[in-house]
Amino acid sequence: MKVLVLGSGAREHALVSALAADPVVDAVIAAPGNPGIAATALCEPVDALDPEAVTELARRHSVDLVVVGPEAPLVAGVADAVREAGFACYGPSAEAARLEGSKAFAKDVMAAADVPTGMGRLCTTLDEVADALDSFGAPHVVKDDGLAAGKGVVVTNDRDEALAHAESCLAKAGGAVVIEEFLDGPEVSLFVVCDGTDVVPLTPAQDFKRVHDGDEGPNTGGMGAYTPLEWAPADLVDDLVARVAQPVINEMARRGTPFIGTLFIGLAITSRGPKVIEFNARFGDPETQVVLARLRSPLAQLLYAAATGTLGQHPDLRWSDESAVTVVIAAENYPGTPRSGDPIDGLDDVEEVPTAYVLHAGTAQQEDGAIVSSGGRVLSVVALGDDLGQARERVYAAVDRISLDGSHYRTDIALKALRGEIA
Ligand code: AMP
Ligand code: GLY
Repeated sequence: MKVLVLGSGAREHALVSALAADPVVDAVIAAPGNPGIAATALCEPVDALDPEAVTELARRHSVDLVVVGPEAPLVAGVADAVREAGFACYGPSAEAARLEGSKAFAKDVMAAADVPTGMGRLCTTLDEVADALDSFGAPHVVKDDGLAAGKGVVVTNDRDEALAHAESCLAKAGGAVVIEEFLDGPEVSLFVVCDGTDVVPLTPAQDFKRVHDGDEGPNTGGMGAYTPLEWAPADLVDDLVARVAQPVINEMARRGTPFIGTLFIGLAITSRGPKVIEFNARFGDPETQVVLARLRSPLAQLLYAAATGTLGQHPDLRWSDESAVTVVIAAENYPGTPRSGDPIDGLDDVEEVPTAYVLHAGTAQQEDGAIVSSGGRVLSVVALGDDLGQARERVYAAVDRISLDGSHYRTDIALKALRGEIA
């Protein structure tokens, strides 16, 4: 099987590695990929957001499967275009990807499918916002209705800050915001592989969204992750499949827009049970890095089954008993405008740490072969262990071997879970 993977982050690096490890795969092509991915896949400098260019690339390489990594190509209709051209594609249509692209659409589907979620109100004027903020009370949750790469949400006790964020979202053409009830409790990310009818859940993971230790500072795309979640209720996954994933997939099919791809359920386990915070229409980054680190079933066969509507016959997934932790090394000033062009040293030394490896995200290779930073999240370092403690020790030992001027990372990934501090 030949697989084309769209995207250029550490999530795509993890996907490419897992796909290439599937015995049925003889080649992986990535567009555009990155210098880490280039060690395994043929990287093609094609714009992943251009439906025609991606279709042409799929034809040129006669691929058997297209796997879409990020949300932007989905919203741009890339999955529709390649499917229309006859290729099996793992990734939803633009219409189905609105589960992620529009917070208001997601709330509408959740209401129709009776999915447990927080209360929310769609606002298009500052007066409506002020009214909603006062009726829900603090902490305030203000979300840009459109796509904002994980940075469109402000959670704050400061009413003025909440209003200011809403004002900046409303200032965009067609701007709208959703004001939500604050959901307390630990957050979980669950990826569910969907073929339009059937669903197969992966192992849940936890992400660290804020930039600094102790969940301080602004939201980012994600600074680290770990799995499994030993503190989570034993029936969590079954419960989420029954109450969230299957009803949503049924509702999307009923609307004539079947969902094929990863339904990413972001939820909070509140005192009143699990409640959905958001859906994404793709794998999460950096959770994918740890989830795939533990997956023992061949990934290409799983995603191909989803893309071709045969998940119902797929064998049960097999998982490693080990724990996996990933730590993101971010460039200076991320999540603001990151500094780029700094040399990265020590990448090869990571091999000295058992099980540890580096996935590339915002990196570039210079003519002399040197790897330099070229984005906000630069690297995602992964390690496994017999338990979370060992996985953490290893991942931080690996992070210590890497040097990138001005970079920063969180030192508390998986720490609360290790200490048994998550209730
Ligand atoms: P989202 O873009 O919807 O994933 O939101 C990003 C992050 O903001 C989430 O991972 C949560 O940490 C936080 N957040 C979003 N909505 C809520 C909510 N209703 N209550 C509490 N935290 C929230
Ligand atoms: N890590 C969360 C996301 O991918 O949106």
